[in-house]
Amino acid sequence: MKKIELHLHLEGAAPPDFIRALAKEKRADLSGVFDARGHYAYADFPGFLRCYEAATSVITGPRDYARLLACVLERCAEEGVIYAELFVSPEFCGGADLSAWQDHLAAMTEVADAARAQGIDSRGIVTAIRHFGADRARQTARCAAETAGGWITGFGMGGAEQVGRATDYAWSFDCAAEAGLGLTCHAGEWGGPASVRDALDLGCTRIGHGVQAIEDPALVRDLARRGVTLEVCPGSNIALGVYPSWEAHPIARLADAGVRVTVSTDDPPFFHTTMRGEYDRLASTFGWGDTEFRQINLWATDAAFCDAPTRERLR
Ligand code: ADE
Ligand code: ZN
Repeated sequence: MKKIELHLHLEGAAPPDFIRALAKEKRADLSGVFDARGHYAYADFPGFLRCYEAATSVITGPRDYARLLACVLERCAEEGVIYAELFVSPEFCGGADLSAWQDHLAAMTEVADAARAQGIDSRGIVTAIRHFGADRARQTARCAAETAGGWITGFGMGGAEQVGRATDYAWSFDCAAEAGLGLTCHAGEWGGPASVRDALDLGCTRIGHGVQAIEDPALVRDLARRGVTLEVCPGSNIALGVYPSWEAHPIARLADAGVRVTVSTDDPPFFHTTMRGEYDRLASTFGWGDTEFRQINLWATDAAFCDAPTRERLR
């Protein structure tokens, strides 16, 4: 089945071997980042964020970003993904320095163009890191706004969802919206229904995760009525302990309530998942088949931050 993936962090999709090779090249000490089997090592969500930041610290220049994007898009294609939206954080690549960001973006755009010619289309979503604070989010939003159009078609925010108030980030989302970018924000992964409402107030048409909306039936009805799309990453939620098992995950209940759910992998090597793996578990846990998978891919197509001709091609 051809798949659309809307929620994939470029830096978080770096395979451990890729990071180890860069660390060796740069003589960087990554002790504590990997476990004895060579997998990313973390025990909980704060540990995951620390491990993620340490691992991604070795991805530093345009060449690294180009190689990473080529590697990630190749893996997407192997999973049957025909269109992927990648979260990219200028704050990781060069500390939101605009000149470095433009070089990184030029290198990534070249790779994305070549991959498109080979059948895998992609777009970039510039992503602020919430726990880095509102000032850096503003710089990141400026990076996004000044490079909007072309490969960059969206602005988002990840990181520790419960840090700061949503209103602290309103300027950044407004700036991105004025530049014509689509808006999404990680919410309702850890912060409950209130956090999802905050993301809607920031102007987001899509929510990263959003699964904890299930705790508030009025919010679920509102999401369904407004046609808000959730970028659901079940394997990520289970690996990080948001839900104890696939059976306990609310994706099927949200879909049954008429909420537009989509399926993505978030940071696949961190969570030992793949798109095929997600689909297989959804099939075996909830009995999903062609009808459901076709529906989530149509919802993903409708919500994609791309132009109308691209959307038509994906249908
Ligand atoms: N950045 C990468 N993965 C994330 C997640 N699952 N939640 C918040 N920020 C992230
Ligand atoms: Zn994410």
